[in-house]
Amino acid sequence: MIPKHITIIMDGNGRWAKKIGKERLFGHQAGAESVRSCCEYAVEHGIEYLSLFAFSEENWGRPSDEVSGLMSLMIKSIIEEQPVFMKNNIRFRAIGDMSRVPEDVVSHIRECEKATGSNTGLTLIVFLSYSGKWDILQAVNRFVEENAGKFPEMKMDADTMNRYLSTYGIPEPDLLIRTSGEMRISNYMLWQCAYTEFYFTDVLWPDFRKENLAEAISVFSKRERRYGKTGDQIKCGISGSN
Ligand code: FPP
Repeated sequence: MIPKHITIIMDGNGRWAKKIGKERLFGHQAGAESVRSCCEYAVEHGIEYLSLFAFSEENWGRPSDEVSGLMSLMIKSIIEEQPVFMKNNIRFRAIGDMSRVPEDVVSHIRECEKATGSNTGLTLIVFLSYSGKWDILQAVNRFVEENAGKFPEMKMDADTMNRYLSTYGIPEPDLLIRTSGEMRISNYMLWQCAYTEFYFTDVLWPDFRKENLAEAISVFSKRERRYGKTGDQIKCGISGSN
């Protein structure tokens, strides 16, 4: 089965650059090529959602020249890729705590979201200034604010939580890929990845290309997703939890 939503923790840019004696930013720039390659693959194979963990809440703690270099790279990539998004019918979205993101980056993001908003092919989502805990907290806080006076009768449930999360309307990831040999989720989509299949590879992100994505999808397609049910129930068509 082809996954509807693939998400990638793009890791290993710094190590890739170090291996060839270059600055970390050189690795991030090379990583932008891998983004392009994966988008192309996703378009060619009819993947509906491709999301990328580009910059975490914790990444704000990196050296300031690396942070500003990444923000400039984001603007450069948006400017360069917008015509490609239009040509390939890609809808671009960015999710995260934009209150911390420099204004010029946010305005380029909003402009690109607007320009590509009616495209109906691949939805490309960039998670920027994002963390899973931030997402859950903003959801709970908004829920409490909007429902003041209705407690304690009013309860939070899973459907309500989904509506308040920043990913509302986007299906939960079927496949999460993390590159560079690290095997953790690093405060990414904590709620949304409850039943996601994980695929870890030693390949560093700047080396990750279409064939690596194809291999991850091939491994995914052989997995049996049981959602807490038995294998026999799944074979009989008793559906999973999402
Ligand atoms: C993790 O590698 C990577 C990042 C924090 C940045 C990812 C950004 C890009 C690939 C830039 C292009 C993105 C878009 C959406 C155009 P790391 O720096 O943690 O690597 P290390 O673990 O080897 O140090």
